[in-house]
Parts: sequence; C-alpha cells; structure tokens
Amino acid sequence: MARSKPLVAGNWKMNGSKLNLADLEALKAAIRDSEGVEVAVCPPATLISRASVMLASSPIAVGGQDCHPQPSGAHTGDISAEMLADAGASMVIVGHSERRSAHNEDDSLVRAKAEAAWRAGLYVILCVGETEAERRAGDAESVVESQLEGSVPDGATPDSLVIAYEPVWAIGTGVTPTTDDIAAMHAHIRNCLRRRFGEESDGIGILYGGSVKGENASAIFAVDGVDGALVGGASLKVKEFLTIISAAG
Ligand code: 13P
Repeated sequence: MARSKPLVAGNWKMNGSKLNLADLEALKAAIRDSEGVEVAVCPPATLISRASVMLASSPIAVGGQDCHPQPSGAHTGDISAEMLADAGASMVIVGHSERRSAHNEDDSLVRAKAEAAWRAGLYVILCVGETEAERRAGDAESVVESQLEGSVPDGATPDSLVIAYEPVWAIGTGVTPTTDDIAAMHAHIRNCLRRRFGEESDGIGILYGGSVKGENASAIFAVDGVDGALVGGASLKVKEFLTIISAAG
C-alpha cells in the first residue's frame, strides 16, 4: 500500500440528475469518518456545486471528471480547474480513456490538464490504460509507460496525484484482468514512477479501475500494489458502492 489509506472514487460519468443527490445523502449517512478509506464522488459538472454543499460536513470528497487547461477564456462548453475548485471540488480526473478516445485527448493535453488542476489546488486522478488490441499485441506495458511519460507532469508527488490504471477493455464490460495481470501492471507503473521521480514517488497511489463491483472488490484490493479503485457503473448504486468501500477498508 503506497497511500496511507486506500482511495475509492466513484466516477458517475454522464449520469445523474438532482434526483441522485438523495444517493449522496445516503452515502453521507453511511460514511461518517475517513479512518480506513478515503472516499470521493465525481458527479457530472452540473451537480458538483450542490454535491459539495451537501457533503461539506462529510469526509467524502467531490471531484470533477475533466478540466480545461486554461483558467478561463473563449472555450465554449468547457470548464476550468479553477471553476471546479470554485464549485467545491477538491480533485479532478484527467486522461480518462473515454476522453482520450472520444475527444482525441493526447498525452500532452492530459499533462496540461493535470498542471491546470494543480494550479487550481486540485488533487489529480490521472488515468492510463491499454486497449484490448494493444494488450493482445503484447504492448500493454509499453503503452502505459509512454502514457505515464507523456501525461504525468514533472513535480508529481503523493500529495498531488494518484494514478488510475484502467485497462480500456475492462471498462463497462464486466471483464477484469486476472489478479496477476493487475499486480504485474501496478508493479510496472511503480517502476516507471520510481525511475522518473525516485523513491519519493513510492507514496504515489495506484488505483485500479474497470468493472470493479461489489463481488470482485475484495479480490482486487488484495492485489499487491493496488491502492484503491476508480469505480464507474457500480458507484451509481449506493449499496454496491458501499460494499466496495467496505472491501477497501
Ligand atoms: P466501470 O466501473 O463502469 O467499468 O468504469 C470504470 C471507469 O471508467 C471509471 O473511471
């Protein structure tokens, strides 16, 4: 365990309306301290402000799912890191594979977004992960290595960033890598970070993401080098999200 506590973050993606604020109330009622596990919820941007007010007296952090590298300007539809912070977010996901693929985000843009997040005082959840074709071709480790090199900014510290390893083929599919494959990739990511940032980077957490569910969470958290999870679909169901959180503690 690189982090002092595991982090379980829920990525709601483009799901949720004001009706789902009741789910946050339920989550808040169930999680009264962050002794064992840090918990975060990344709702759609439309809910960040209300979620932040609602969770202000709770240990549950609120995060954004993306940010623009610039602090402000003529970027219709975009949201800056400063705006997320202003709305009450304390963290942001950058480099999610859905943005890398659907919005053609490359490593240098992801890096700029991570730097923007730091500029605004936000903690970064930076996603990397290979496609199925890349894994089949035996390129998974080299792909992730080059994503890390290109998208993690200089100056990354355990207090400013966590890596989320999310194999693209495991996202939303119900399929997960074997625990051996997760352990091997997390060890590889650890080595890449250490080569670049030295032993100080050993405190940088590495989350796993991709079809984490109530029923597989314990097995995934037991894998060497897994410091928590970035959870998509299962974070939309309070009961299942709580099961995952308990499994991490
Ligand atoms: P699922 O948990 O739905 O597979 O999504 C994972 C993910 O993309 C989290 O960012």
